[in-house]
Amino acid sequence: MEVTKKIIKFTIFSLLISLSSATSVVDFCVADFNYPVGPAGYPCKNPANLTANDFSSSILSVPGNTSASIFNLAVSSALDQTFPGLNGLGLSMLRLDIGVGGVVPLHTHRASEVIIVIEGSIIAGFIASDDTPFYKTLNKGDIMIFPQSLLHFQVNVGKGPALAFVSLNSASPGFQTTSLALASNDLPTEIIHKITLLDSQEVKKLKKMFGGTN
Ligand SMILES: *[C@@H]1O[C@H](CO)[C@@H](O)[C@H](O)[C@H]1NC(C)=O
Ligand SMILES: *[C@@H]1O[C@H](CO)[C@@H](O)[C@H](O)[C@H]1NC(C)=O
Repeated sequence: MEVTKKIIKFTIFSLLISLSSATSVVDFCVADFNYPVGPAGYPCKNPANLTANDFSSSILSVPGNTSASIFNLAVSSALDQTFPGLNGLGLSMLRLDIGVGGVVPLHTHRASEVIIVIEGSIIAGFIASDDTPFYKTLNKGDIMIFPQSLLHFQVNVGKGPALAFVSLNSASPGFQTTSLALASNDLPTEIIHKITLLDSQEVKKLKKMFGGTN
């Protein structure tokens, strides 16, 4: 009898805990940039001051300028920093304009991603943590997922420019691009050579391309 009571109490307690973690005490939390960001995002703007404009954006409506990029790529971002209504909701969107022959270079982020191709033809892929590559050609309307933290890429293999949109399950995914991580900073060439086995001349060439030193 006593044991049954304990089990019931424990079950109710667990239920309360799971309910409290699954529900939020607010519907939304539009970012207030007057305060610093923390692990859970930005503090909320006063709800009394919000309008529909806080929950909509035209950031992704305009094609980016791909010729300004070494990768022939333009990324437009609707993240919490550019679209404060996303704060705390665990999602974001990007627009990818990829010029002829352009690429989204090998990169990673904390969030999982789904891509949808709107125009053109791309090879998209990721490399699993056991180093198995998964890649294929995507055409208009095709979607593909890139699980969180895994290195992934897209290559425009069509005759014209490609357009795709991605959605990520974080408002602040934290992008890290391999070539920039290696060659856009002052990490010494000698160390980069040792940790990657890339030829020092190649490292210097990349540093020149991406503004790195040392
Ligand atoms: C927010 O709304 C309150 C009440 O209407 C107003 O007093 C305050 O100035 C507003 N704040 C901003 C930043 O607009
Ligand atoms: C695109 O970028 C290139 C290179 O920076 C620049 O020369 C060109 O004027 C830009 N085009 C537009 C439409 O902004």
